[in-house]
Amino acid sequence: MRAVVFEEFGKPAEVREVPDPAPAEHGVVVRVEATGLCRSDWHGWMGHDADIVLPHVPGHELAGVVEAVGARVTGRRPGDRVTVPFVCACGTCPACAAGDQQVCERQTQPGFSHWGSFAQYVALDHADVNLVAIPDGMAYATAAGLGCRFATAFRAVVQQGRVAAGQWVAVHGCGGVGLSAVMIAAAAGARVVAVDISPGALELARRFGAAHCLDARTVPDTAAAVRELTGGGAHLSLDALGSPLTCAASVNSLRRRGRHVQVGLLPSADGTTAVPMARAVALELELLGSHGMAAHTYPGMLELVRSGALRPDLLVTSVIGLDAAPAALAAMADAPGAGVTVVEPWA
Ligand SMILES: NC(=O)c1ccc[n+]([C@@H]2O[C@H](COP(=O)([O-])OP(=O)(O)OC[C@H]3O[C@@H](n4cnc5c(N)ncnc54)[C@H](O)[C@@H]3O)[C@@H](O)[C@H]2O)c1
Ligand SMILES: [Zn+2]
Ligand SMILES: [Zn+2]
Repeated sequence: MRAVVFEEFGKPAEVREVPDPAPAEHGVVVRVEATGLCRSDWHGWMGHDADIVLPHVPGHELAGVVEAVGARVTGRRPGDRVTVPFVCACGTCPACAAGDQQVCERQTQPGFSHWGSFAQYVALDHADVNLVAIPDGMAYATAAGLGCRFATAFRAVVQQGRVAAGQWVAVHGCGGVGLSAVMIAAAAGARVVAVDISPGALELARRFGAAHCLDARTVPDTAAAVRELTGGGAHLSLDALGSPLTCAASVNSLRRRGRHVQVGLLPSADGTTAVPMARAVALELELLGSHGMAAHTYPGMLELVRSGALRPDLLVTSVIGLDAAPAALAAMADAPGAGVTVVEPWA
């Protein structure tokens, strides 16, 4: 099969022929029809993920068709249209038993713990626990986002963030995660303040329901601006980029007893990030993390997609072939955001 491969972190990846994957006993191989370019792929390529063994094939936000099925899989057949939460849970550890597959103790992740979906085929573990059927009529390019950023944003806003109608929600960083969060929060009846440095991203945020858009290049203190616009601060705020700056801005955007949800990854040499904890104490803030979303909680999100309340199809602004993927991955270092790019490996 053809796949995007890198031999060294941060050095150009290339498309080459590699052996086709085979399914584990509990797993499947999926023919990849679409795979989103998520900033986590960029983090992996930069060497920020300790699980990655070189040479490596990135890609974790995917949709496609089941091609081959392991001997112990009972619920899936070749030909099934599927996506998968990028956290592939084991299904049996204490976290899984508690329903928290998104933080499974024995999770695997395509594109991180093993070769991913910037390829024509990808192997996925514990298929009966993790695979999610794609609704009839949904395009693969749309369904791919349900594998990572759309579902991650849904968990961050709805499950972890406990959004409620009439509340103020601030979203710092309006790329794939952030724009999804804007759409999901607005659909829940919240009033959204979107923050980005890209006019294109902010235009999309407005289209997806943001009441206010702040350009961080011209608004020096975005947290103060959010507090001003919301009459004292947001009830819920997300760092949907992942940087010490946006993390602090998100925490500082909150009103008393507000909730910060950290979605963006924060790589650092010692694994720590400075957070305005004095404010968290004085205002009794909640600081939460959010990591993907468990497959068994997808039906609630999919029902909102079916009803038209959520439109993940509108997030996709660019579709490219596998040959263009290495450059698109490298360009994430400094390209301004403007929607979601999807790779179609068979195009
Ligand atoms: N926790 C999880 O489960 C999970 C899942 C998916 C992605 N992520 C992480 O979430 C983050 C976002 O991923 P993505 O694919 O949406 O990224 P993206 O590159 O699509 O979006 C990032 C956005 O942030 C904007 N931005 C850059 N500098 C900014 C600043 N100073 N202030 C405000 N906005 C700024 C960019 O213009 C862009 O629109 C990444 O760190 C990714 O690794 C985490
Ligand atoms: Zn992702
Ligand atoms: Zn588990």
